[in-house]
Amino acid sequence: MNRPVMGGVAALNAPPYIKQQKLINWVAEIATLTKPDRIYWCDGSQEEYDRLCADMVASGTMKKLNEAKRPNSYLACSDPTDVARVEDRTYICSTEKDDAGPTNNWMAPAEMRSTLSGLFDGCMRGRTMYVVPFSMGPLGSPIAHIGVELSDSPYVAVNMRIMTRMGKAVYDVLGTDGEFVPCVHTVGAPLEAGQADVAWPCNATKYIVHYPETREIWSYGSGYGGNALLGKKCFALRIASNMGRDQGWLAEHMLILGVESPEGKKHYVAAAFPSACGKTNFSMMIPPVAFTGWKVTTIGDDIAWIKPGADGRLYAINPEAGYFGVAPGTNRSTNSNCMDCLVSDTIFTNVGLTDDGDVWWEGMTKEAPAHLIDWQGKDWTPAIAKETGRKAAHPNARFTVAATQNPVLDSAWDDPAGVPISAFIFGGRRSTTVPLVTEARNWTEGVYMAATMGSETTAAAAGQMGVVRRDPFAMLPFMGYNMSDYFQHWLNMGEKIAASAATQPKIYCVNWFRTDANGKFVWPGFGDNMRVLKWMLDRLEGDAGGTEHAFGVTPGFSDLSWDGLEFTEQMFDQITSIDKDAWSDEIKLHTELFDKLSQRLPQALHDMKAALEQRLAQ
Ligand code: OXD
Ligand code: MN
Repeated sequence: MNRPVMGGVAALNAPPYIKQQKLINWVAEIATLTKPDRIYWCDGSQEEYDRLCADMVASGTMKKLNEAKRPNSYLACSDPTDVARVEDRTYICSTEKDDAGPTNNWMAPAEMRSTLSGLFDGCMRGRTMYVVPFSMGPLGSPIAHIGVELSDSPYVAVNMRIMTRMGKAVYDVLGTDGEFVPCVHTVGAPLEAGQADVAWPCNATKYIVHYPETREIWSYGSGYGGNALLGKKCFALRIASNMGRDQGWLAEHMLILGVESPEGKKHYVAAAFPSACGKTNFSMMIPPVAFTGWKVTTIGDDIAWIKPGADGRLYAINPEAGYFGVAPGTNRSTNSNCMDCLVSDTIFTNVGLTDDGDVWWEGMTKEAPAHLIDWQGKDWTPAIAKETGRKAAHPNARFTVAATQNPVLDSAWDDPAGVPISAFIFGGRRSTTVPLVTEARNWTEGVYMAATMGSETTAAAAGQMGVVRRDPFAMLPFMGYNMSDYFQHWLNMGEKIAASAATQPKIYCVNWFRTDANGKFVWPGFGDNMRVLKWMLDRLEGDAGGTEHAFGVTPGFSDLSWDGLEFTEQMFDQITSIDKDAWSDEIKLHTELFDKLSQRLPQALHDMKAALEQRLAQ
């Protein structure tokens, strides 16, 4: 094999438009450690994207889909052992263990550095190291921040071009001394001279490591999603949450949507849900037909960076530029706008390949194709599926698509100033106990609701599915520091807004997922969530009813608009009722969480719980 090496180190060949010596030195240092055969500096152009994709088609990593059916789109299928985020391999390596807190895996930085220096030594041999400069948020926005990812995966490079503002222009923003978050990623599969590559190289050993104090990310062994596209969970949530705490802003696992009434009154809301609980669907929701004149538009579907503006209000951007959404279950009735996004220029990962060169996943159409090749490369038919339970698509199969393909993209989605947030929504997946919607009576009550949120686990992370776990603020897997300090940070942010001329955003807790005795969802969800959203907006405007109960305010049946939906009062009761026994069990789980977090838990949350217990006992 021809290796263009200089004294054992790949030629650096930094392009002349990069003016920052610190960045060039860092690339050289990582190349010396990881020993790639080549270094490639991504410019972010379409030509580059097309070329890298064509290379991956030639190497077998991707398949090009039928151009007539799905233009400029690809399918990648991963190694079956590399299909989701690996939470048990994800570390927050702060100097002090308590600064990572009891919800994170921790290792002392020196110990982790010594482990990783062994693993990263020569890990890119035989491969190309891609230098991927990216901006999280509109280029040059005061809310945005920059990262540079060094990765030996071309799949990562092309996904990063869709998911972030990636390319040459980032270097102009960086200039000679701008700050960037250094992100090092390897699939951990060096190639010996002459050794054939595999379609999806990865390593059984995985480490997703964050050094919050030095703001560094090191990822080893996985090529999949949040483990490898380091701008997303690693930077935009785990590292950014540290930046937000230190600098007085919020990095949240939240979609952002705009909602406009027929009278032209517009609000932006940010909503946190755990992974694979419908954030993408909610952010692109189509209001029911009866809601004539109402418009929902998308700012972002997964992450929000929120900074206080000069007027004291909170302004949010979507730091991402694309959607890395869950494919299974997405269809024309659950999310038609998303299906429109996916008509072309999309990378699909781990879905089925139809005989006519298109993609299919469970739930995409009512009727499954008669035959396809499943995500593991095996023949698949409905009969095989019935017999073996084998899925055409992995439950965590994904699409990667640019936000600009979204037909309901908000006109302000790329506004460097961000959009003002009127309300926060927190939701979990709970088949019982938690009512459809509750409004917090004040900021602290809202923080308590978000902090104690529980949700049934999904396929987005490796591990058991359907188990209720506490997922405070939907941030459990994404929190970059001590969870209790984060609660305090939210309380502080609320106080800051209260001390300004601005009004605090209202806080809501929702649950779309209550089931009946047969295990069927009672609430129709999707577009009908507009009914709940409208109630919230009416509350913001001060003209909607609600009843106060033990933990907040909920609408009565007549407070929601039912036009165009047959939904009985009895069904409404099923999803809004508060079962005292279930709640007494629920509070025990709050206590368990608070015990776990007790070391730094804000007193205000203890007080809130005591008051709640008292009200429930009445
Ligand atoms: C995601 C997740 O990929 O939350 O967005 O897992
Ligand atoms: Mn997410």
